[in-house]
Amino acid sequence: MKVLAINSSPHMDKGNTAVILNPFLDGLREAGAEVELFYTKKLKINPCLGCFNCWLKTPGVCAQKDDMDMLRPKLGEADVWVLATPLYVDGMTGPMKNVLDRFIPLVQPFFELRDGHCRHPGRNGTKDGKTVLVSNCGFWEMDNFDSMVVHVKAVCKNAGREFAGALLRPQGPALKTMLEMNAGVSDVVEAARDAGRQLVRDGKMSAETLNTVSRELISLEDYIQVANQSFQQQLDANKAKKKAPIS
Ligand SMILES: Cc1cc2nc3c(=O)[nH]c(=O)nc-3n(C[C@H](O)[C@H](O)[C@H](O)COP(=O)(O)O)c2cc1C
Repeated sequence: MKVLAINSSPHMDKGNTAVILNPFLDGLREAGAEVELFYTKKLKINPCLGCFNCWLKTPGVCAQKDDMDMLRPKLGEADVWVLATPLYVDGMTGPMKNVLDRFIPLVQPFFELRDGHCRHPGRNGTKDGKTVLVSNCGFWEMDNFDSMVVHVKAVCKNAGREFAGALLRPQGPALKTMLEMNAGVSDVVEAARDAGRQLVRDGKMSAETLNTVSRELISLEDYIQVANQSFQQQLDANKAKKKAPIS
């Protein structure tokens, strides 16, 4: 099983998205998958120009030369896409959306009916694999992910891929801190790892495991209080730094 993972957090390996993504990828590897991970921050991927050259002038070839030339064939060949993104204004990050927009050279311009819906046929050699979404967000509630999950499911239908599920972590920033404090949340990370193993072994991830990834870490009232305290402390510390005389 070939897995292509893309992490679009600007914090890359140090971010909250990676706290869930990395054990998930470890689980996939442990179960025998071949995993490649890319960070959009390290890649140069311009927004799509909308010129349709890749459909009508130079079929299958994008007018822009950047790191999509390297990534696009990998997207075409992967059995599993892992789209890992922090939630930004109720959706995926801009860099992740750029990757998806720049996928269109891999489909043809023609329309066909698939499951009664207008779609583009793929080009030769493009696999119809699975897609997994991995995300975390700053707010407390699970429903913050609703719009992004709807979007990624629609992307899967459009690209002829199976939506294989999502590892969603609300209260994202709390997980890292609580892990560092040994505050009894290691089951969340272990569930992410197990989800990876399950996907390779069973072809799917169990609802129970995904629920553990998303489980409540701290009550809503405590989360708001702790978050606001931390914001205030950081504001005060930065103000004090500004005021301090330059030595
Ligand atoms: C531009 C921007 C927009 C964000 N929008 C949301 C949002 O709509 N809802 C939410 O719950 N968190 C939002 N967040 C918070 C991030 O999802 C959160 O900080 C996350 O833990 C960042 O993950 P990372 O460390 O992997 O980058 C936003 C953060 C930024 C920088």
